[in-house]
Amino acid sequence: MEQRKGRRLVLFPLPLQGHINPTLDLANILHSKGFSITLIHTNFNSPNPSNYPHFTFHFIQDGLSESQASTNDVVSLLTLLNIKCVEPFKECLRKLVSDNDVSEEPVSCLISDAIFHFTQAVADSLKLPRIVLRTGGASSFVVFAAFPLLREKGYLPIQASRLENQVVELPPLKVKDLPVINTHNPKTLYQLVDNLVNTTKASSGLIWNTFEDLEQSSLASISQQFSLPIFPIGPFHKHNLVCTSPKSSLLAEDQTSISWLNTQPLKSVIYVSFGSLAATSVRDFLEIAWGLANSEHPFLWVVRPGSVLRSEWLEALPSGFLENLSGRGHIVKWAPQQKVLAHQAVGAFWTHNGWNSTLESICEGVPMICLPCFSDQKVNARYVSQVWKVGLQLENGLERGAIEKTITELMREKEGDEIRGRVSKLQEMANNCLEKGGTSYESLESLISHIFSLES
Ligand code: UDX
Repeated sequence: MEQRKGRRLVLFPLPLQGHINPTLDLANILHSKGFSITLIHTNFNSPNPSNYPHFTFHFIQDGLSESQASTNDVVSLLTLLNIKCVEPFKECLRKLVSDNDVSEEPVSCLISDAIFHFTQAVADSLKLPRIVLRTGGASSFVVFAAFPLLREKGYLPIQASRLENQVVELPPLKVKDLPVINTHNPKTLYQLVDNLVNTTKASSGLIWNTFEDLEQSSLASISQQFSLPIFPIGPFHKHNLVCTSPKSSLLAEDQTSISWLNTQPLKSVIYVSFGSLAATSVRDFLEIAWGLANSEHPFLWVVRPGSVLRSEWLEALPSGFLENLSGRGHIVKWAPQQKVLAHQAVGAFWTHNGWNSTLESICEGVPMICLPCFSDQKVNARYVSQVWKVGLQLENGLERGAIEKTITELMREKEGDEIRGRVSKLQEMANNCLEKGGTSYESLESLISHIFSLES
C-alpha cells in the first residue's frame, strides 16, 4: 500500500453489473495508490457497501419506478437514468466538493462512467474536472464514435437486406456487427451515443479497461480523434491489489460451480454464460441445451432466473434432461465467473462477449465460442473471431447441429489448437502489461500524475 495522498476521488458507476464490477476494481486500484475513495451510487442495483469498508458510500434517490427499473429496454433505462439522476447527483456532489470539514481530503476530480453523460455538465458547473471511465473496449468505442458517419452513409439504421455487407470504413466489421440495441424508439439510441461521445470529448481524460497490445490501433484512433489524454490501464481485475473475486456481484454466486469443476478432467469443460442482461427465447434455450448435450463435453451453464423469456428458470428443459447426462452437465443461476475461468477444468467459454467476459477469458487464456446479443458485444465478438482469432463465432442463428460442430472444432480439431496457442499469447501479454515497465503499469503512473496536474 502506498502512502495516503491526502486527496479524494469521487467515482460514480453506471448501476449495471458489467459496469459496477470494473468501476469498483478501478476504485480499489486507485485506493491502493494512496487516494481516498468516495462512491456515489444510485439506490437501484446498489452493491453491498459493507464489502468495501475502505470506501465512503453516498446513495442517491434515482426515482425509478419498479416497472422502469425492471424494463428490458436498456436504452430507455439508460436515458431515464441520465435524466432522473441529475438533481440528486448534483446535490450530493456539491456537498462533497464544498464540505469544509478539515478531516476530509479535498476532492481532486470526478471519475464517472461514459454512459452517465449528464455528469460532465454537473462537474463543469462545480468547476470540478471529470475523467471518463469507459468500461467497454476501445474497438467498439471507435464504432460508437463513427455513428454520425454510419448514418450518413446509410449503414444505420440497419436494413435486413444488408446484414452481410462489409462496413468498408471499419474493417473487418459487417453491417450485422454494428453495435445497436433494440429499443422502442431508435432515435433515443443515437441521442444517447451522441451524448456519450460528445461529453467524453469535453472531459479531462479517458480511462480504459483494456491494454495497448490488445487494442493498439483502436486506442491510437481514439487518441487522434479526441485529443484527450487516454489511460489504458487494464485488465483492472488482474492488478495485484484487487481482490480476486468481485464482491460487487448483484446475484449470489453458486460455489457448487467450483466443487463440480473439481470433479472434471483438465480443460474438458465448456463454461456457458451470457452475462447479466441478455435473454433467450425458449426455442434458442432448447437448441443450446441439446447442442451442449450432444457435444459430449461436460458443461457448466449459467442460466439467470428470468433470462429464458416467459420462464422463471429451467421449466422449459425436458424432464430428466440433466439426470440423463449422468453428471456431465451442471446448471447454476450465477457463478463466481473469474474463479471459474481460472479453473484448470475449463477448456472453453461460450460467451455473449460482454467486454468484461471477453477480457476475463483472455486473461485466463480460455478460447471462446461467441454468441453476441446486442451493442458492443457484436463488435467484441468480431474482434475475438477475426482480429485476435481466439474464438469461433456462431454466425447463423442457433441450431443444435451447428453448436455441436463448433464445440468439436474448438475442443478437438487443429483449428482449436491454433486458437489455444493465440489466446495463451494474449494471456501472457495481459500479464506482462501490468508488470513494472509494462504499458498498463506505466499508464497508471501517468494517470496519477495527470490527476495531480488537474489541480493546478
Ligand atoms: C453489459 C453489456 O451487455 C456489455 O455489452 C457491456 O460490454 C458491459 O455491460 P454484461 O452482460 O453484464 O455486460 O456482461 P459482461 O461485460 O461480460 O459483465 C458481466 C460481469 O458479471 C463479468 O464481470 C462476469 O465475471 C460477471 N459474472 C457473469 C459473474 O460473476 N457470474 C456469472 O454467472 C456471470
